[in-house]
Amino acid sequence: PPLSEILNLHDFEAIAKYTMPEKAWAYYSSAADDEITNRENHAAFHRIWFRPRILKDVTKVNWSTTILGQKSSMPLYITATALGKLGHPDGELNLTRAAAKHGIIQMIPTLASCSFDEIMDAAAPDQVQFFQLYVNKDREITKRIVRHAEQRGIKGLFITVDAPQLGRREKDMRQKFEAEDPSEVSKADQGGIDRSQGAARAISSFIDPGLNWSDMAWFKSITKMPLILKGVQCWEDALEAYDIGLSGVVLSNHGGRQLDFARSGLEVLVEVTTKLKEKRGLSFPNEKFQLFIDGGVRRATDVMKAVALGATAVGVGRPFLYAYSAYGPEGIDQALQILHDEFEMNMRLLGARSIKEVVPEMVDSSNIHLH
Ligand code: FNR
Repeated sequence: PPLSEILNLHDFEAIAKYTMPEKAWAYYSSAADDEITNRENHAAFHRIWFRPRILKDVTKVNWSTTILGQKSSMPLYITATALGKLGHPDGELNLTRAAAKHGIIQMIPTLASCSFDEIMDAAAPDQVQFFQLYVNKDREITKRIVRHAEQRGIKGLFITVDAPQLGRREKDMRQKFEAEDPSEVSKADQGGIDRSQGAARAISSFIDPGLNWSDMAWFKSITKMPLILKGVQCWEDALEAYDIGLSGVVLSNHGGRQLDFARSGLEVLVEVTTKLKEKRGLSFPNEKFQLFIDGGVRRATDVMKAVALGATAVGVGRPFLYAYSAYGPEGIDQALQILHDEFEMNMRLLGARSIKEVVPEMVDSSNIHLH
């Protein structure tokens, strides 16, 4: 169907499934084991209901915000997803250009298909970018990557902590990995590459399962960029991240691709804000320690629920991959326009004129259990 008939982010997935190369679909859509967490990422949003306010003069509504001190036209960023070229020859550059056009932030993955410098070179002047880091067993390599990212102006370093080993994504494992672009292999090939079990396994063998809390002091010693842990899944770890002086955490289960039966970021958000208030007197959203979630976000209303519950912003992954895989750059442009339109309407209907007015009283979260 023509792009004009695409009305929401779910539509891109439905089209992409039938138009994308099979290997790309397998890698992008797959999740761990029985994919229960992947489904839960969507289901969790269904447990939160709105409590809108009326008669607020919502002629003008504004859903822009700041993330780690950087301007964003929406409380939403493009999260890191590896191997962008599986779905389209321009890969991550589609995301870079669309992010510039729509004033949002892209998180560049360690395992991008395009090289880091290629992506930075494609960015608009002053375009804000974050970087997602997989920590290499060889810390010298990691140090070089981190320093280079900082030097090129990256404004936030998101260290992935939920993937000491890649999850079992069986849909992907049934495919054989053949990197068309040799750079994909050279980046990942640090000790033999196993091509027999899908893309994810082929590219991930360098990741260090020995990464631990004591490494965080080392990261602070090698960079001034804000450090954020991506993949925190309980309040105890969020508290630890706060106590050691990190800038925030992404409550995430990696799009359901790692530990199956991990809870959704939305669910974890409720316990994190509750416990950090109780233990450290923090309120959210908080400038000094920012909370993010990702997983299953498909509508502006999903984003607004997370913001109401204390998130600074949320990450969106698969929908943008599907959008550009199915329709090229115009697809992701349309995806972001749809989100802007959804924000405008739903902010009005909620009775919130700005993101600051999207407050906890505007949601009923009583269906979320505290742990
Ligand atoms: C990911 N994700 C991810 N995360 C990360 O830290 N490093 C990575 O290289 C990748 N790669 C990756 C590839 C693909 C194809 C997907 C779908 C996801 C996880 C990603 O950042 C995020 O947590 C989820 O994608 C969010 O869920 P949704 O929006 O895809 O439902």
